[in-house]
Amino acid sequence: MRKKIVAGNWKMNTTVPEGVALAKEVVGEAASLSSEVKLIVGTPFTHLASVADVLAGSQVALSAQNCADEAKGAYTGEVSAKMLASLPVEYVILGHSERREYYGETNEKLVKKINLALAENIAPIYCVGEKLEEREAGKHFEVVAAQIKEVLFGLTEEQMKNIVIAYEPVWAIGTGKTATSEQAQEIHAYIRSVLAEKFGALAEEISILYGGSCKPSNAKELFAQKDIDGGLIGGASLVAADFIAIAKSF
Ligand code: PGA
Repeated sequence: MRKKIVAGNWKMNTTVPEGVALAKEVVGEAASLSSEVKLIVGTPFTHLASVADVLAGSQVALSAQNCADEAKGAYTGEVSAKMLASLPVEYVILGHSERREYYGETNEKLVKKINLALAENIAPIYCVGEKLEEREAGKHFEVVAAQIKEVLFGLTEEQMKNIVIAYEPVWAIGTGKTATSEQAQEIHAYIRSVLAEKFGALAEEISILYGGSCKPSNAKELFAQKDIDGGLIGGASLVAADFIAIAKSF
């Protein structure tokens, strides 16, 4: 049985006090949730320690949104995986399209980040997804396959067991335009088949989340698809009631 996961990606939103208040609301609302669903909140670096205190003893896990591609040293402004691991950080979002697009995050850098995170027992939520022009040119399968192969195929099976994948079509992120459940299922199944080429039966155990304008009104249909194991939620994760409503959509 694959893990069902709903992960919030707060992006660069909320001050620390606002983030703490949001985390408290999420924890409060999560009490009514089935323990089958793994809930995760992905906060900015500045919020991690304070939000960790709020989440302590709850069923909600903590995620960062990035980590450095070097282990330590003279990298001003960077935050290492080891630093994250000195807090109760269990996950890290890596390869988000916003980081690929605005911060020059390459597949090569992502291989380093993923290995550093795994070495600290932090599970990467690895994001893949095509841009609008790539989908319109019919290249979405090719683009996503390359993002999977170039970054994940160097991992061992043991490492792969700790990876969560998020498929996020760039054209659906923050646009209000969601992939249809058929479009999402088609590419999730394809991602699983690509993973199976390298990792065999393990591909069936890897959770693949959908991201991109996922909200309470469309989560049920998306999560009902065979190969969709949950969601990576941006905008709707900033409203505790919406975030929990999504988590109740399985
Ligand atoms: P969105 O963002 O839900 O606001 O579209 C999803 C994401 O970028 O992870």
